[in-house]
Amino acid sequence: MSLPSDTGTSDGIPARLDAALAEVASLRAELEETNRGVVALYAELDEQAIQLRKATELKSRFLAYMSHEFRTPVNAIRSIARLLIDQIDGPLTPEQHKQMLFIQSAAVDFSEMVDDLLDLAKIEAGRVEISPAWFEMVDLFSALRGMFRPMLENEAVTLSFEEPVDLPRLYTDDRKLSQILRNFVSNALKFTQAGEVRVAALRCGGDRVRFSVIDTGIGIAPEHQAAVFDDFSQVDSPIQKRLRGTGLGLALCRQLAGLLGGEVGVESELGKGSTFFVTLPVQLAVADVPFTHDPV
Ligand SMILES: Nc1ncnc2c1ncn2[C@@H]1O[C@H](COP(=O)(O)OP(=O)(O)OP(=O)(O)O)[C@@H](O)[C@H]1O
Ligand SMILES: [Mg+2]
Repeated sequence: MSLPSDTGTSDGIPARLDAALAEVASLRAELEETNRGVVALYAELDEQAIQLRKATELKSRFLAYMSHEFRTPVNAIRSIARLLIDQIDGPLTPEQHKQMLFIQSAAVDFSEMVDDLLDLAKIEAGRVEISPAWFEMVDLFSALRGMFRPMLENEAVTLSFEEPVDLPRLYTDDRKLSQILRNFVSNALKFTQAGEVRVAALRCGGDRVRFSVIDTGIGIAPEHQAAVFDDFSQVDSPIQKRLRGTGLGLALCRQLAGLLGGEVGVESELGKGSTFFVTLPVQLAVADVPFTHDPV
């Protein structure tokens, strides 16, 4: 009877067992190594997340400080421009008067940009105060109507506020909602040369309300619609070239809507017009407020 040459037994089991054990040991070693790699990778990712958070905080703080510090000099420019335009210290020549109006308008643009940057930085840093209260939509609409009346320069465009029908009282931060609608309306007026801008509020899905600003303006092509809510995003158009702006207004609207537990959106057809909307809960729940109420 001949024995298998590699083992001392007839069935070769210990040899196969040895081989299997060796294979298991090598697999285990391989697995442990992979495991160590994964653990190291996690640690690295954690470290990167911490660095990223620090960088974001630093950026937000820098933006907040910078915009805050810009306010004082720009306000000084605005007040001195006002004094000169009012000719309190003596008359101006017509040319000087025109130049002062340019300075004043540039200072107004600049301070609006600084305000938007400061608001965005505060939201990003989680340092924004939400003050919800009960209020009637009609009151908010009439305040907005009053605010925009002096700004309606183009007679070819009408601004109207639809009477809210069957709208409950709202419990949210009315100043932040008003800020969103102001941005929508001022964009709609800016990008509409003729026709109308209409503001409407509709109850949708029981516990939510949708506010829409509908215009008959230049519209936005489908491929640009998603980007308009990003920071500094502007769609190229002849109007855009003529008018200034920073592309921060809608980014701010999106952030503000998020703070109020809602979302923004747009429906638009190039050359026909746009509808910008914000959908909010009728009653802001404390759980919907994503940031701490920590006033700056
Ligand atoms: N009603 C609208 N009709 C057509 N295009 C619009 C309308 N609203 C916004 N847009 C487009 O979206 C871009 C972003 O709007 P956003 O309000 O963020 O910036 P802006 O108005 O250019 O500048 P800012 O609001 O910071 O002064 C605009 O530049 C414009 O291209
Ligand atoms: Mg704007």
